[in-house]
Amino acid sequence: NLPRRVKIVDVGPRDGLQNEKQPVAAEHKIALVHALQAAGLKEIEITSFVSPKWVPQMADNAEVMAGIRRQAGVRYSVLTPNMKGYEAAVLTRPDEIVVFGAASEAFSQKNINCSIAESIERFAPVTEAARAAGLKVRGAISCAVGCPYEGEIAPERVELVARLMKEIGVQHVGVADTIGVGTPRKVQRALEAALKHYPLDEVSGHYHDTYGQALSNVYASLELGIASFDTSVSGLGGCPYAKGATGNVATEDVVYLLHGLGIDTGIDLDALIDAGVAIRAALGQTTGSRVARAMLAK
Ligand code: HMG
Ligand code: MG
Repeated sequence: NLPRRVKIVDVGPRDGLQNEKQPVAAEHKIALVHALQAAGLKEIEITSFVSPKWVPQMADNAEVMAGIRRQAGVRYSVLTPNMKGYEAAVLTRPDEIVVFGAASEAFSQKNINCSIAESIERFAPVTEAARAAGLKVRGAISCAVGCPYEGEIAPERVELVARLMKEIGVQHVGVADTIGVGTPRKVQRALEAALKHYPLDEVSGHYHDTYGQALSNVYASLELGIASFDTSVSGLGGCPYAKGATGNVATEDVVYLLHGLGIDTGIDLDALIDAGVAIRAALGQTTGSRVARAMLAK
């Protein structure tokens, strides 16, 4: 009883590139967005409005947003941790705002320099302003199964953050395995915790592939009826505040899995592989997608 259609949010331009050590020109980021929408992606996470001292790679946020040739039917999202970020973001006309909290206190402190409770206080006015402006608000819950500082995270902690996000009007939550330590049953418990406060179509999975478990975790999520995933083309990425973390599961690999299961994504796998090859070439890197590697070798 798996979902018949799944929504993929490519987070490559944001999550994928935010941790890249070499400078990446805005034109390459913009070209990546164009290649993703050409491949059929309908949701793309473009950038974040955070401190350029903390995440220098995203300092060109407004330039990237301004450079995108918008395609009808495509939704462009951006991360904003506070009102300062929101006020800068809204000028660039995003479709969706992402606030990002954590199920772990230690990670919240390292990532956004405040406690979980304080983060909710910062997200509340952002959510209110965004919704008043007609923008959708999504919330990310980092470290939903494990934390680099606190170790294993209990599902109750995810439930608490989901409840707090619900109370301030956040419309969707993404259950994030920031450091990729999750395995299928643990990920299902974390999703079920979020599902206590959000309906099935407003919970998504965001899995980093550090331990090679992400595809299994996507499948386990499908078993629960989850039909939305954040993925990163060619597996781009890492997290600046989670040492050793690798990118999100590669979009190509998830699309191959879904299509193999007869699940519709609306994505053209060959065009998606081209998008991954192009950004990796711009970075001087090879793809992190197993599917892309296999198909390019044919
Ligand atoms: P802070 O230092 O506590 O903030 O940082 P502050 O309010 O005390 O301000 C300090 C300075 O930052 C001031 O500048 C502010 O103007 C500036 P100064 O006077 O020193 O020149 N500032 C800002 N500048 C630009 N944009 C802003 C902004 N806010 C304050 N929005 C803050 C708090 C959250 C800003 C900081 O900790 C930060 O930028 N952190 C980066 C967080 C981040 O981007 N992490 C990666 C994304 S989350 C992620 O990857 C996880 C996810 O993928 C899910 C998963 O996998 O887990 C979503
Ligand atoms: Mg992430």
